[in-house]
This record gives sequence, C-alpha cells and structure tokens, in this order.
Amino acid sequence: MAQITAPKGTQDLLPRDSYRWQWIEGMIRNLCAQYGFKEIRTPVFEHTEVFVRGVGETTDVVTKEMYTFEDKGGRSVTLRPEGTAGIVRAFVENGLFNDALPAKLFYLIQCFRYERPQKGRLRQFNQFGIELFGAPDPITDATVISLPYRLFKEVGLKGISLELNSIGCKECRAKYREALIAYFEKDQERLCGTCLERLEKNPMRILDCKSEVCKEVSKDAPLITDFLCEECEAHFKAVQEYLDALDIEYKINPRIVRGLDYYNRTVFEFVSNEIGAQGTVCGGGRYDGMTEQFGGASQSGIGFAMGLERFMLVLEQAGIEAPKPQDCDLFIIPLGESAKKEAVKIASRLLDGGMGAQYDLISRSVKAQMKYADKIGAAATMVLGDSELEQGIARIKRMADGAQEEISLEALNAEWLEEFLR
Ligand code: HAM
Repeated sequence: MAQITAPKGTQDLLPRDSYRWQWIEGMIRNLCAQYGFKEIRTPVFEHTEVFVRGVGETTDVVTKEMYTFEDKGGRSVTLRPEGTAGIVRAFVENGLFNDALPAKLFYLIQCFRYERPQKGRLRQFNQFGIELFGAPDPITDATVISLPYRLFKEVGLKGISLELNSIGCKECRAKYREALIAYFEKDQERLCGTCLERLEKNPMRILDCKSEVCKEVSKDAPLITDFLCEECEAHFKAVQEYLDALDIEYKINPRIVRGLDYYNRTVFEFVSNEIGAQGTVCGGGRYDGMTEQFGGASQSGIGFAMGLERFMLVLEQAGIEAPKPQDCDLFIIPLGESAKKEAVKIASRLLDGGMGAQYDLISRSVKAQMKYADKIGAAATMVLGDSELEQGIARIKRMADGAQEEISLEALNAEWLEEFLR
C-alpha cells in the first residue's frame, strides 16, 4: 500500500530529538514556578467566535489562516491559532478574577495556522506563553518582558534583540488612524489589493504588509509614538525605566504593530537575525480590557508567546546543545530462561531504588545485545549466564572506561550501582 505522509507544515517530534524539547520545557516550567506563574490548559478547539472577537475580524490570522470547520452538530469551531483569546475566555468563564489577583498563567500549547510553510513557519507549531491579568502598572510590562529575556540568558543565547513599542490606547490610535489614512490616500493606487481594503478597515495593518511596494509606500508613514496621549506616553516611559533598572537592553521600534487586534500600549518582539525571514521568536504586549469582549468586567492583561520551533532553530544555530539524558543505568543481558527470571528481579530492585534498568526482551545474541546497549547509551552492562547464576555473582561493566566489578547477586541494588557509576 502507498505510504501516507504527514500533512504539509506539520512535524513529527522523534525520540532522538524529544529530549531537547523536554530540556527546554523543563527550564520553562522551572522559570515560571520561580516567577509564580501557574499552568493553564484550555481546549485545542474553541467556538470560532472566540478568535473572531478576540484576535480581530480584519487580522490575517482570522481572515486567512484559521482551521475552521463545522462539527457534526453544525457548530463552527476553530483549532486555536494562538493561546491568548482562549485563555481570556477561560479567565472570564471560570471567574478567575475572584482568585488572587494578579492572575499569573503560563501555557505550553500547540497552535494551528494555515500559512505557507517555510523555515520557522509551520501549520502546527508550539508556543510557550504567559498571560497576566489584573496588573495595569508598567512594572508588570517590564517583569513580563524579563521572563523570556532570562530564559535566553539561562540557555546562553546571545544575539536576540528586544524591540519595543507603544501603540497607545483607543484615543491615541483614533488620531493616528486619521493621520495614516491621510498619508496612504496620497499613494493609494500603489498599494496592494489587501492594503487597499486595510486602508478603510485597519490602516495600521498596512505597516505590516510584506509586499515590497507597500513597504516602500509606508517608508515615511507617521509613527504611532508621535500620537501617544499623555498617559500612554508616561506608561511607555515608565516601562523603559523599569527595563533599564532590570538591565535589559531594548530598541524602540515604532513600526511594530503586531498582527493581532487586541493590543494596546506596550507591544514587543524578541527577534533573531540568524534563522532567516521568520526571525520573530517571541511576541507580546498589553491587552487591557479584552475581558470585556468575552462578557467579563474590564480587566488589564498582558502576555507574550514564544514559538518553540523558532527557539529551537535559534539554539541550533548558536550551537547550544541540550544535555543528553542518561535513561539506562544498567542493561542486563540474560542468557537462558533462568537468567531472564533473575534479570527481571534485579531490574525491579533497581527501578524501586530509582535507577534506570532495562534488559533484553527478544532473546538476541550477546553480541546483538551489547550493540543495543551501546546504542541506547547504557551506563553499565551485565551479562547473566549459567556460571554467574551458579556462583551467585554479577559482573558489571562500566561503559565509560570498561572497568568491571563483581558483586553478589543479592547485594546488587540501586545504592551500589549508583556508587559504581559515580
Ligand atoms: P504571535 O506573534 O502571533 O502572537 O505569535 C507568537 C510567536 O509564535 C511568534 O513570534 C512565532 O515565534 C510563533 N509563531 C507564530 N506563527 C507561527 C507559525 N506559523 N509557525 C511557527 N511559529 C509561529 C501570539 O500568538 C500572541 N497570542 C502572543 C501574546 C500572548 N500576546 C499577548 N499574550
């Protein structure tokens, strides 16, 4: 029969690579615990309305990239293209605002976007993100930004730059919108079809267009930072002061508008120049009041999400390797039926003591078993044949240096093995 391949834009995570992901995920979990963020898991699919309301009707994500389908009950559902909208929905629905505020949440999730696959851009991808509710003060913005910054530092990554902007509040943006429309109208006929539509609906999106002509047209467009009201300006300044206090370097980039509609005030991206066109490893910002879109009382919110595939690419590029885990402390090579029975007993004892112990399951030759032990990276091996059984001793070989020791079969336990491997 013909083979079936994985859908375009998806990836299998294979056993030979999964330890890398587990390493990063472990580090993320530790860091989140240190900062006091607790994990939240929301459904992979939501009512389509969650994203239309949350992410915004005119965004590329909603208009072009969603995996939307009708379920058997005729309801329109969508595989989540991002985490924030579903989490805001869950925050309101579960009354998390009644728990201790600020609410500090983190997530490690799969997201789905129907995009043209390329390096660092997939149709199913993984995000690590945090969302923090109920803390409007600028100290929060800097704290949220400091988390990915610290993660990059902890793994030893350099060369990821932080770009920062403020897109103000509704009032700032209303004035900015007018200025943008006036600016783009002059060159209207040069804009691409999509941007022509954006001009009416959401002119800030034009600044995000990838078309060379639109980029050229928008070169001298007015900057949002010149339209901030007094309060937004003060907030933005304070965020910068806290970042300075945290010793976090950043570049102000007034052209960052982000691709999702819920943002206000602070927006930011961590960008790498080392992994090609899809260099934004992490993006986020403030979304005060988004809870209202889900029928809740107004609550401030801020967060970010990091694309883990892109993070992995950056690590690879920088030559940063995850430590290889030592799964198998002892591989037992039993020869014959009685030896197999003894092997399962010894392995059980070692497992009880917290060591990694395995034995042959398919009655292969000694040579084949040794080869297998080597392949799985066993720290020690032990051949258990008739003579060992008769004498009641185990002969254990340390693979790193070939050293061998004998011990009685009864005395072989986790403590002894640990000492031997030290
Ligand atoms: P976003 O910028 O759409 O923001 O995505 C965040 C990150 O996810 C990107 O910087 C990128 O690393 C990764 N990413 C996005 N699309 C793809 C793709 N097709 N393939 C691989 N990686 C991708 C959000 O999703 C917001 N929810 C972030 C946020 C949280 N803002 C506030 N809270």
